[in-house]
Amino acid sequence: MNPPAYHLDVMRGNDVTPAQEQFINHWNQCYFGEVAVAKGLTKAPVHWRLILRQDQCLLSHVALTELGIEMDGQMMKAGAVGGLFTPHPLHGMGHGNSLMDRAEEFIFDRLKLSMGILFCLPELVSFYSKRHWSLVTPPVTLEQKGGLATWGAAVMILFADRTQSGQHSIHVPIPARDSERIDSTTE
Ligand SMILES: CC(C)(COP(=O)(O)OP(=O)(O)OC[C@H]1O[C@@H](n2cnc3c(N)ncnc32)[C@H](O)[C@@H]1OP(=O)(O)O)[C@@H](O)C(=O)NCCC(=O)NCCS
Repeated sequence: MNPPAYHLDVMRGNDVTPAQEQFINHWNQCYFGEVAVAKGLTKAPVHWRLILRQDQCLLSHVALTELGIEMDGQMMKAGAVGGLFTPHPLHGMGHGNSLMDRAEEFIFDRLKLSMGILFCLPELVSFYSKRHWSLVTPPVTLEQKGGLATWGAAVMILFADRTQSGQHSIHVPIPARDSERIDSTTE
């Protein structure tokens, strides 16, 4: 008998099935409901969601945003990675890394962006470092309705050719609400 196949579901931000919505809401609440460092900050819209599954079993989720950022004084678009999770009974089986492989591919090959960025908790830096992401030297500033804020945790970046360093000045203007459109697919 063949082992069950892995599938990648790619959806626009909120174009999800009831089962996917329940999966996302439940585990988002478990993992990110009380993230103190993000409290009070404007959330960027989610443009894409990638979910790794094995048959009907949902294994791992990540959200992507095409985010305008100012790097070293130049405006550019980066693929912002957020909300990566694997339900805890499935941790350590390679699903998170496998989904990140696909997410990085999506950012560079499909969205044709030259850079990935993520805002994460300090304890996750080693997870992304092993994937060749670089920790940006602080401060990273975020434009907010009430003025300028400084991100209080880690920011990491990845270039398509993995040659980046963390020595950049990064500022994030208020994210645009509109998004480019792409068809939902299953691969
Ligand atoms: C981070 C996470 C997505 C990894 O998913 P996963 O399916 O277990 O990933 P993999 O099996 O591919 O890889 C597991 C690796 O991540 C490491 N890791 C996971 N959580 C970690 C943490 N909090 N601190 C340090 N390392 C961690 C494991 O030690 C393991 O390392 P190894 O490969 O060197 O043994 C999962 O632990 C998770 O959902 N965590 C809670 C949500 C979260 O914090 N998301 C990150 C937001 S930036």
